Amino acid sequence: MGDIRLARVPLAILPTPVEELPRLSQHLGCRIFIKRDDLTGLAMGGNKTRKLEFLVADAISAGARTLITAGAPQSNHCRQTAAAAARMGLRCVLILSGEKSQAQTSTGNILLDTLLGAEIVWTDGQGRDEMMDRVLERERQAGHQPYLIPYGGSNPIGAAAYAVAMQEFAAQQIEVEWVVFATSSGGTQAGLALGARLTGLKVRLHGISVDKAASPFREQVAELANRTAEKVGADTRIRPEELIVDDRFVGAGYGKPDALELGAISLFARMEGMLLDPVYTGRAAGGMLSMMRSREIPPGARVLFWHTGGTPALWAYSRQLATLTG
Ligand SMILES: Cc1ncc(COP(=O)(O)O)c(C=O)c1O
Repeated sequence: MGDIRLARVPLAILPTPVEELPRLSQHLGCRIFIKRDDLTGLAMGGNKTRKLEFLVADAISAGARTLITAGAPQSNHCRQTAAAAARMGLRCVLILSGEKSQAQTSTGNILLDTLLGAEIVWTDGQGRDEMMDRVLERERQAGHQPYLIPYGGSNPIGAAAYAVAMQEFAAQQIEVEWVVFATSSGGTQAGLALGARLTGLKVRLHGISVDKAASPFREQVAELANRTAEKVGADTRIRPEELIVDDRFVGAGYGKPDALELGAISLFARMEGMLLDPVYTGRAAGGMLSMMRSREIPPGARVLFWHTGGTPALWAYSRQLATLTG
């Protein structure tokens, strides 16, 4: 098994547990397990905490004093970056897409961003990348030594964390045939694919796209996995055809939960006391349930649902979720 030696700061509580979901398993006729990356621990957890262990270590070794990143208004990545910055005594500037006047600033992740002390800059009709460059320059001029973390933390340093996460799962010795998870900026998927290769784990890694068409996203994830392999010195390459990006459940688009997501959130909550989020894990779990019901995931299959977090966004979607309670 390839050892991944990249600088790392401890931010997450690891290994995250794997639990079995007996009532849901019985209900759906499959054996369902869940990898609890919603319990990584940093300011309500999630998958980005793993990536930030490596990204923040790189920032610190580059002498950074300020972390800058960007995301959607209810970005879990931004909230975890703000928490990582606070933990390490760094400044944090978050560039959130949209207009402040249109956003629900007093709930969900935005509320937490503020509690965690991040400065929020709204794109207000401007391009996200352009705004990132502008804030970077402003912070440089002010002598704040900024470090830019890409959207979703999905570069080879961030993705490497999920190769390590897959090694962690392999060591937990839970035999499964399927691993189902939400994919969006691709770092989690790239890392999981690389980690499976490095550990020799033979599982179907089924990425459920939250917002993107399978093509050209699959090619982009393969490219990221290969740049990650290079970064960690692994002599292996992943072809796009080896990756599964399932874009059938994108529905009305990013951040627009519908019956699929609400049904999954409700079922997990009521059968297992398990909370999902409305944007990522609700959609991925909805896709998984649909594949189980149609027998595309065959009855009796052993399936791991990789919970990637995001539950603080539940409160920002309270209006849609309220339809569950009638
Ligand atoms: C809760 C949650 N799950 C899944 C993802 C997708 O991970 P990735 O961006 O690495 O594809 C994100 C990304 O923001 C997330 O917040």
